[in-house]
Amino acid sequence: MKAIAINKYGSVDVLEYIDVEKPLVTSDRLLVKISASSVNPIDWKIRKGMLRVLTGNKFPMVLGFDVAGEVVEVGDRVTDFKPGDPIYAYLDPIPGGAYAEYTAVSPQVACLKPTNLTYEQAAAVPLAATTALQALRDKAEIKKGQKVLINGASGGVGVFAVQIAKAYQAEVTGVCSNKNIELVKSLGADKVIDYKQQDFTKETEKYDIIFDAVSNREFSECKDNLLPQGIYIKLLPSFDILVQGFLTLFTSKKAKLFFAKANSKDLTYLKDLIETGKVKSIVDRTYPLSEVAEAHRYSESGRAVGKIVIKVADEKIE
Ligand SMILES: NC(=O)c1ccc[n+]([C@@H]2O[C@H](COP(=O)([O-])OP(=O)(O)OC[C@H]3O[C@@H](n4cnc5c(N)ncnc54)[C@H](OP(=O)(O)O)[C@@H]3O)[C@@H](O)[C@H]2O)c1
Repeated sequence: MKAIAINKYGSVDVLEYIDVEKPLVTSDRLLVKISASSVNPIDWKIRKGMLRVLTGNKFPMVLGFDVAGEVVEVGDRVTDFKPGDPIYAYLDPIPGGAYAEYTAVSPQVACLKPTNLTYEQAAAVPLAATTALQALRDKAEIKKGQKVLINGASGGVGVFAVQIAKAYQAEVTGVCSNKNIELVKSLGADKVIDYKQQDFTKETEKYDIIFDAVSNREFSECKDNLLPQGIYIKLLPSFDILVQGFLTLFTSKKAKLFFAKANSKDLTYLKDLIETGKVKSIVDRTYPLSEVAEAHRYSESGRAVGKIVIKVADEKIE
């Protein structure tokens, strides 16, 4: 089968469009014919070797965590899925394997695709939306009426975070640049701050939750903008969050570093939010599988609005 793989770590030039072995279906896996995948910043961080302590040196390595496609075969211990099912999945473990025509998926990280999304729209959801959901619901324990600030509201994680926070009936402030203000408002944000005009950490407004989706700030900069029991959540490790994560174990304001974990229950939860119209999939650009290098370049620019999708196969016309 065709796949985009790397044989060493490096720049976009190490991404090769090659033939690799089609995965075998073991007894507890689904073989999925992938229609679409999407790019997450972790993909190019793996490509550059930034996570090599986790990814090791076993090449060729097929990257990509998000999958939307059709089940073509199931292992004999699989009971929840059958051939022909349209699914979406958040591949686990690292480094994924979604930049390919087929993948073997554990049912524990797969779910039937939201019926109102195309495969391309569905592929934009798994990793980014799971991150936003788990950070807000599980880590911050978001509640109705709380004041929530989403920093990086126009990014892959941010667009889902704004919508999920609104689904929880929070009062949401999104932080983005001028060109994305209308989009973030259209996702339901009650207020939008243009970070090029105004630094939210220099304002007097206080929040129950500051979700640093783009993760370019620190707890120490934001703590005066938290209400007494407020929580700051960051998605990338830094010296500040590691130290403050420990120190704030003993204070009412909390600093938390969070890593998402793939699971089918949360994809089912998101499917419900999507099918009831509370959450939309926002696709910025779509690239064919052979052009993942271009998609990585765009993601690395830090300017993507919502998600960058990789189209692997044509949609099936019913
Ligand atoms: N820990 C985890 O489990 C986990 C999970 C998912 C992602 N992450 C990490 O979280 C980060 C964000 O991921 P993502 O997928 O949302 O990234 P992304 O889609 O690449 O983010 C791009 C967005 O960031 C916005 N942005 C750039 N500079 C900004 C600033 N100074 N203030 C506010 N917004 C700004 C951009 O808007 P403008 O063009 O308007 O500036 C753009 O819309 C990445 O580093 C990723 O690796 C971690």
